[in-house]
Amino acid sequence: MKQIPFGKTKITVPAVAVGCMRIAGMTPGEADHFIKEAVGLGASFFDHADIYGGGSCEELFGNILKDNPGLREKITLQSKAGIVPGVMYDNSAEYLTASVDAILKRLKTDYLDVFLIHRPDVLADPAETARALDALIDSGKVRYVGVSNHRTSRIALLSEYMEHDLTVSQMQLGLMHAPMIQEALEANMATDGAADRDGGMIDYCMQNKLTVQAWSPFQYGRIQGAFLGNPDFPEINASINELAANYHTTGTAVAAAWILRHPADIQILAGSTNIDRLREICSADQIPLTKQEWYSLYLAAGHMLP
Ligand SMILES: NC(=O)c1ccc[n+]([C@@H]2O[C@H](COP(=O)([O-])OP(=O)(O)OC[C@H]3O[C@@H](n4cnc5c(N)ncnc54)[C@H](OP(=O)(O)O)[C@@H]3O)[C@@H](O)[C@H]2O)c1
Repeated sequence: MKQIPFGKTKITVPAVAVGCMRIAGMTPGEADHFIKEAVGLGASFFDHADIYGGGSCEELFGNILKDNPGLREKITLQSKAGIVPGVMYDNSAEYLTASVDAILKRLKTDYLDVFLIHRPDVLADPAETARALDALIDSGKVRYVGVSNHRTSRIALLSEYMEHDLTVSQMQLGLMHAPMIQEALEANMATDGAADRDGGMIDYCMQNKLTVQAWSPFQYGRIQGAFLGNPDFPEINASINELAANYHTTGTAVAAAWILRHPADIQILAGSTNIDRLREICSADQIPLTKQEWYSLYLAAGHMLP
């Protein structure tokens, strides 16, 4: 598994991480098998959030950690908080600190490798939020911190007040949801793709050394379903399948390779609960897409080059 730099830290992390949003439906036995196989593939980085399955995803994962001594030290464990589902976002120090304590309890561990603010709360005082993140690191409960679904200006604002670095920016990115790429390629055009939706996230993260994590990389729309093999998207599937045949691999692997080909060292958060699918995604680092192939997939996905 290709390793990528992790923000400004001295550690590296696998280019493919496992998103745990969909594991709630697995039996303990299935989850145990899946997690161990993923670690065996090198996908030993796991992303959670306190709201996934209403906390049941973390509970299930925590039980597996408890039943497998030594597993915790082999993996990188990330979770997120800051969303009160259906009610509001809360980035207050009190809420974030209590959320991390609850996450640690469910995951049955005494530290998180990475903690992210899931979504920005515009009513929170950024200085207070920043101090809370610093305090979580200083307490030893969390090693690294970051954000998800934040604009670059919000990241810069939090950074102003922080002693420690923000390490991660987690955003939706895939062939069928690529505003972070479109805004760069369509700059200055009167086109929808030129819209500045996040403040130039990829350039910002490269400049300031944050790791971009790509959530829902194989979905279209806002987690509406996988576009791969979906008859509603004939053009992108034809292009992907042609390249997959040339590279003797699968369409899923090609779609993953498209993300890994970007020089920002983007980390994929794969949400599949199928170990064979995860194996395909992990093999994407072996597919050396040419520049022309990368752009041909971008165009087949319906995006434009001005
Ligand atoms: N920060 C945020 O706001 C946010 C939001 C959403 C998600 N996330 C993170 O991102 C992770 C991934 O999200 P996701 O699960 O929506 O992403 P995904 O990997 O794009 O989608 C996975 C889903 O697509 C299905 N699928 C069907 N065909 C597929 C194919 N050919 N290749 C790959 N998957 C296929 C999978 O089914 P099978 O299981 O049968 O393979 C699974 O249900 C989450 O687990 C979570 O950690 C973060």
